[in-house]
Amino acid sequence: MTSPVVDTVNLVKIYQDGEVPVPAVRGVDLRVEAGEFVAVMGPSGSGKSTLIHMIGGLEARTSGEIWLDGQRTDMLKESAWALLRRKKIGFVFQFFNLVANMTVADNVELPALLAGVSAKEARRRREHLLGELGLTARADAAPAQLAGGEQQRVALARALANKPSLLLADEPTGNLDSRNTRDVLRLLGEVHREGQAIVLVTHDARVASLADRVVSLLDGQIVDDGGAGLARRRPRGGPGDVIELRG
Ligand SMILES: Nc1ncnc2c1ncn2[C@@H]1O[C@H](COP(=O)(O)OP(=O)(O)OP(=O)(O)O)[C@@H](O)[C@H]1O
Ligand SMILES: [Mg+2]
Repeated sequence: MTSPVVDTVNLVKIYQDGEVPVPAVRGVDLRVEAGEFVAVMGPSGSGKSTLIHMIGGLEARTSGEIWLDGQRTDMLKESAWALLRRKKIGFVFQFFNLVANMTVADNVELPALLAGVSAKEARRRREHLLGELGLTARADAAPAQLAGGEQQRVALARALANKPSLLLADEPTGNLDSRNTRDVLRLLGEVHREGQAIVLVTHDARVASLADRVVSLLDGQIVDDGGAGLARRRPRGGPGDVIELRG
């Protein structure tokens, strides 16, 4: 048996806003199997970003456990987290976080180089990703010279540069028109077929429909888990694995 890529146990995050506790995530058990594509939906403020930030080690949990590939991670020190992220996780943030004084090409190559991939391989991978996302002509631009939707696609390319076993993406199509959304979805489909797991936060039902599973959050809790996306459900589930069409 392989361990799930992600397994959270009664995961809780309570922010402290002055004296007032703000519960953002309230006891989430989320399991994502290797290669699975999970969409996370829910209204603004329901805890989606907080949840995936904790899974990616960018935000400390208040209580509960986080396991990645069978390794408990919620107690790791920042240095250990940094290593683990570099090896296994690609992250697309809600607000992109590109390195301002590096070109698009360098932004995309950086994670692969940090992970010890050869310069030639990092370049090959960068060219492929920028090509898939229609950004080849922008490779030498600085992030500030790009439109919001372009920055967002660069952030996705950067997150995929390492072939991470887990892609965490927060609204990766939030600023995109339909053509660019299609490019992003095509690339995510390719990533998914290659066996990388994806946990993707989205407000867009069309995007969610490509996932194997849709998890709905409300007020920091999972209120629905296991509804299959419309597009495809790979026959990997065990007994009792029911196909449920939504909507
Ligand atoms: N740094 C912080 N300090 C205090 N409260 C916070 C902080 N970050 C988030 N929150 C609160 O935690 C709750 C969950 O926020 P979160 O950003 O996870 O929601 P979200 O589902 O990602 O929303 P959106 O769809 O708008 O991105 C909200 O009530 C938010 O105000
Ligand atoms: Mg958010």
